Amino acid sequence: MKIQSHLYIFIIFFSILFSGCHSEQKQKIGKSEYQQKIDSLIKIMTLDEKIGQLNLLSSGWDITGPTMDPNFKQFIKQGKVGAIFNALTVEFVTELQRLAVEETRLGIPLLFGYDVVHGYRTIFPIPLAQSCSWDLSMIEQSERIAATEASAEGINWTFAPMVDISRDPRWGRVSEGAGEDTWLGSQMGAARVKGFQGKDMSDANTILACVKHFAAYGAPEAGRDYNTVDMSERTLFEYYLPPYKACIDAGAGSIMTSFNEISGVPSSSNRWLFTELLRNKWGFIGFVVTDYASIFELIPHGVASDSAMAGELALHAGIEMDMQSTVFINHLKKSLENEKITLKEIDDAVKNILMAKYNLGLFDDPYRYCNAQREKEELLTPVSQQFARDFVTKSCVLLKNENQTLPIPANIKKIALIGPLANSKEDMLGSWSASGKAVHCITLLEALEEKATKYNFKIEYAEGCQIQDPSVKGFARAMHAAKSADFVILALGEHRNMSGEAASRTNINLPEVQQELANKLIALDKPLAVVLFNGRPLTITELNKTAPAILETWFGGTQAGNGIADVLFGEVIPSGKLTMTFPREVGQIPIHYNVKNTGRPIDPKNPEYKYRSKYIDCPNEPLYPFGYGLSYTQFEYSNLTIDKPELSKSDTLHISIEVSNTGNYDGFEIVQLYTRDLVGSVTRPIKELKGFKKVFIPKGQKDTVTFKLTPRDLKFYNLKMKYVWEPGEFLLFVGPNSISGLSAEFRIL
Ligand code: NOJ
Repeated sequence: MKIQSHLYIFIIFFSILFSGCHSEQKQKIGKSEYQQKIDSLIKIMTLDEKIGQLNLLSSGWDITGPTMDPNFKQFIKQGKVGAIFNALTVEFVTELQRLAVEETRLGIPLLFGYDVVHGYRTIFPIPLAQSCSWDLSMIEQSERIAATEASAEGINWTFAPMVDISRDPRWGRVSEGAGEDTWLGSQMGAARVKGFQGKDMSDANTILACVKHFAAYGAPEAGRDYNTVDMSERTLFEYYLPPYKACIDAGAGSIMTSFNEISGVPSSSNRWLFTELLRNKWGFIGFVVTDYASIFELIPHGVASDSAMAGELALHAGIEMDMQSTVFINHLKKSLENEKITLKEIDDAVKNILMAKYNLGLFDDPYRYCNAQREKEELLTPVSQQFARDFVTKSCVLLKNENQTLPIPANIKKIALIGPLANSKEDMLGSWSASGKAVHCITLLEALEEKATKYNFKIEYAEGCQIQDPSVKGFARAMHAAKSADFVILALGEHRNMSGEAASRTNINLPEVQQELANKLIALDKPLAVVLFNGRPLTITELNKTAPAILETWFGGTQAGNGIADVLFGEVIPSGKLTMTFPREVGQIPIHYNVKNTGRPIDPKNPEYKYRSKYIDCPNEPLYPFGYGLSYTQFEYSNLTIDKPELSKSDTLHISIEVSNTGNYDGFEIVQLYTRDLVGSVTRPIKELKGFKKVFIPKGQKDTVTFKLTPRDLKFYNLKMKYVWEPGEFLLFVGPNSISGLSAEFRIL
């Protein structure tokens, strides 16, 4: 009897819901067409069922934070869960989805979330590395592949892109973002959303994006993860908020709160942020999920005295789904009885979550993402491996190359490969490696072995030392290997867990033992290239003084070794440019290229003069600036021209510059456009990135690179916090990085 009545409700419910729905599923169905179905559903839902939709629990298959409730399967059956994260594979997802769809009264399907941050099984370079490619279409394509793989294993929702701007390399999570620049970060975030969500979210190979972490999580005091954020409203609006907005405008279906407070208000209780700004002003129509247990954390933050109050604050702020703190499920009912919250607040939250499920096509087919055939065929395909390899080559940044040490000559006889990162499969994955497996990663040693067959040289490999252990026992073997080699490759850097979440460092030097090893090997005076593996800019001032060549490779993922070897042998010419400044010293942090001039800038004619904005023990300039990166070839910039010296409101400035490849290799160059607003109602940065072009120029040839600029591109928050451009004098700069290039002046009337 029970089963029959169950089935009856189920059939009636689905026939209401799906009448006339199938033919439309292939096309993008507008919000209003689902709205009716959602309204009908809301009418028959009990309060418990509604609150259940707001609950997101981890399956515990992957641990991405403190685990709180192991009873998730029971909860699903009781209709107390709207979404699950960290549950993978078609078999497991099917099992859990079945509990929701077949064993609960209304059979509402679950969302399945996961941190698909730089690939799912095929792991691509970490996002910071990807950003150094300045290649928006590759970034989008990598997320298309990631979404295809993830959705083939049951996942329909990713906790990405992470678009937190950061100027502080002590913060370990810089590895997950696109660096320090707002404009570039906005474009990259939007590209990722498009890659994940594809053309139609109801296609089975697309997944829902979740922009994170709203807001300003990348600016914690002293670079310490989860720490307090305090900044002016102008800085928040101008530098930190635009990337989230760009992702919303690109259609991101969900957004995640951040752990931090801003100006005394923790994100998960910030009504201004989530309701006034995000919903009312930006018109966000997706749903808001908290970061891990951050509703509960309103208690230690000191804005809620207990869990009930925390839940009320969060719901009232506009938070709709509670990740892992079980505050909503345990307290909202009582809070409603006590009239601390309204039923409308709950209903609104449920509606937005149901809408996401409709958009994903889950009401049409809850098992849409559970296709065992796809799971067999669509992971780690040769095409995605080749793409991953290419992406590694595009993400590497050549930091130094004295006397053209690189590329390694093809007639080399013996290479000594030394260092703790030369053969560490695990570390290639970087942080947030989703379902990536160390066993699938190609190390530099493995890749060199292949090149050795191709170019006919010998390799001697010695670990030299470990990543952090101070023991120097392995030095002797390493020195011995290097002495008999005619080229030394030194693979140094961080362990993959030294960056990422909860991995802030106060000292971002190379671990001491590695620097010591490098000093000894460099002193042999052999052709030597350092290959760096790390998740953040490092203070490699000492290394930079003596190492003949330095190639920054970050953590390259599954195909790391192959891509790096392609670059080392000049099969691919490096073209990456830094998207985060490398400081000389930790004391320079926060550091970024788009600084203000101050009232006391250093006078270039008298740089030693005391009363200027400078340090007495270190230059102001970074070790490597934003936008910097070398090639094996050389590019020269000439003939910067603008088509008019003055422009009015509706004019477009046309800019052109000649870029010549004067070196010996064909190669890509990332040509960058910056501006400076000389006088404003508020101070303006000395440079702001406004555009870039990545161009391929064969050796001996030149290209004319053009840009367009309009007054709209020069908007900022003026004295009254209005987003406007102001007339006056401007400088523009076109060049290979944020500190060099040619400049011109123009005026806006
Ligand atoms: C905490 C992290 O801050 C967030 O980025 C991630 O998505 C969640 N844990 C879930 O793993």
